[in-house]
Amino acid sequence: MAAAPGRQRPAALLCAALCLGAALAVDRSNFKTCEQSGFCRRQRGLSPGHSPYRALLESLQLGPDAARIQLINEATKVPLLLELWGLQGNMTRIRIKELNPLRPRFEVPDVLVAEPPVERLAVTGRDEGSLELSLGPAGHRLLVTEKPFRMDLLQGRELLCSVNARGLLFFEHLRQQEGAAAEGQEEAAGGTEEAAEEPGSWEETFKTHTDTKPNGPTSVGLDFSLPGFEHVYGIPEHAESLRLRTTEGGDPYRLYNLDVFQYELYNPMALYGSVPLLLAHSARRTLGIFWLNAAETWVDISSNTGGGETPQTDVRWMSESGVIDVFLLLGPAPAAVTGQYATLTGTPRAKGAPAPAATEDPIPSLAVPPQQAPRRCLLSSLWGTTRAAGTTTTRRMWQRWRGALRNTLSPAMCSGWTSSTPMANATSLGTPASSPGPAPCWSNWLQRNARWGTPSQGLGGCGTPSGC
Ligand SMILES: *[C@@H]1O[C@H](CO)[C@@H](O)[C@H](O)[C@H]1NC(C)=O
Ligand SMILES: *[C@@H]1O[C@H](CO)[C@@H](O)[C@H](O)[C@H]1NC(C)=O
Repeated sequence: MAAAPGRQRPAALLCAALCLGAALAVDRSNFKTCEQSGFCRRQRGLSPGHSPYRALLESLQLGPDAARIQLINEATKVPLLLELWGLQGNMTRIRIKELNPLRPRFEVPDVLVAEPPVERLAVTGRDEGSLELSLGPAGHRLLVTEKPFRMDLLQGRELLCSVNARGLLFFEHLRQQEGAAAEGQEEAAGGTEEAAEEPGSWEETFKTHTDTKPNGPTSVGLDFSLPGFEHVYGIPEHAESLRLRTTEGGDPYRLYNLDVFQYELYNPMALYGSVPLLLAHSARRTLGIFWLNAAETWVDISSNTGGGETPQTDVRWMSESGVIDVFLLLGPAPAAVTGQYATLTGTPRAKGAPAPAATEDPIPSLAVPPQQAPRRCLLSSLWGTTRAAGTTTTRRMWQRWRGALRNTLSPAMCSGWTSSTPMANATSLGTPASSPGPAPCWSNWLQRNARWGTPSQGLGGCGTPSGC
């Protein structure tokens, strides 16, 4: 007995040292910077003020729902298609894609609960070099300027938001790889129509992972200017102050779902989840920008506040691929913006709302044979925890968890459970008396993954991370 503490102490010290060391040092090399991301570097390399895009106003097609106008990049001559909608409930949708893409480009499915109902658009003004559309009964108007292309969204005389005012629209069109046919040919020949491809356009390596890009560079970027707004919020998830800061002189905020062990506070590095919704708020109004793109995205924020002039915040979105599809949520009240976002993407079931139809067995996989008791324990524990945390487990959520669980956790954790352990007992995780050991592992794993729950509830008295 006496020897035991002595033997254990070095191990304990070592652990303490390692844990402390680990707690103090985030391994920044796990987080990609904009400079290390080919498309972010290319997008950010474009500086304001030189937009090559021109709106071909004579190409306007005004349908019953949308207005369509071609844009042309005067440097590359590649045409884009701009589509504009005035949506019911004070929203405007702007979509920009290639007019004749080499291949279809990805457009995000599933996120919109339905095609949003539209207002009737009308041309209310036209002169050489610009076009004015009215967007519905609330008096929103969109002024489209031909060259360089930009758009200004107004309500009455008030300018709410300008698009491409800084000329940062950058749409990398699909292309064939130069010299793809003539394999091994050096690019010494030169004289290609377009500028030499930047490194990272067709393949790039981060740490040990090499990412091939068979479609080549396909990123998209666009800027929004918000006059009168000093404060912007949103684009979770970052370990950041509530109000977003300007990103000048540093990296943009990154939206890319990661599960990296540690992260830094007040840093734009990506975390577990991403919601591409940014809110701008002033005493007078609130406005939202919802950037519907599922690819890796970086968001730059700059502002001119403090100079005595009208404050203005500029936001620049850059995504690795897809199309530009953005919703301007025009409030004007904060609650209206939230409501507008909810009408587009849906809401979770409200507390106290009726349960899903009885035909939906929420835990179908619990019918496991007795020899699979350990697995039953895992599943039932998980189920109990989600319930204890006061969350509503939908079948889809449950199936996702079950899948993750199968791949992540060892059934040995539930050695004390039998196939007859009642479900009702599974309200806290990892706490059956006979297998108290792995509770913290469980709890931490769950706490990380069950962020819709309340960590202090039903998570089996979660302890500190314990090396699982
Ligand atoms: C739309 O905007 C108008 C004018 O700002 C406002 O009166 C109205 O309440 C708004 N509608 C919604 C659904 O927020
Ligand atoms: C389940 O919980 C009930 C009440 O808390 C307890 O009486 C019973 O012994 C438990 N059963 C098992 C198998 O743990």
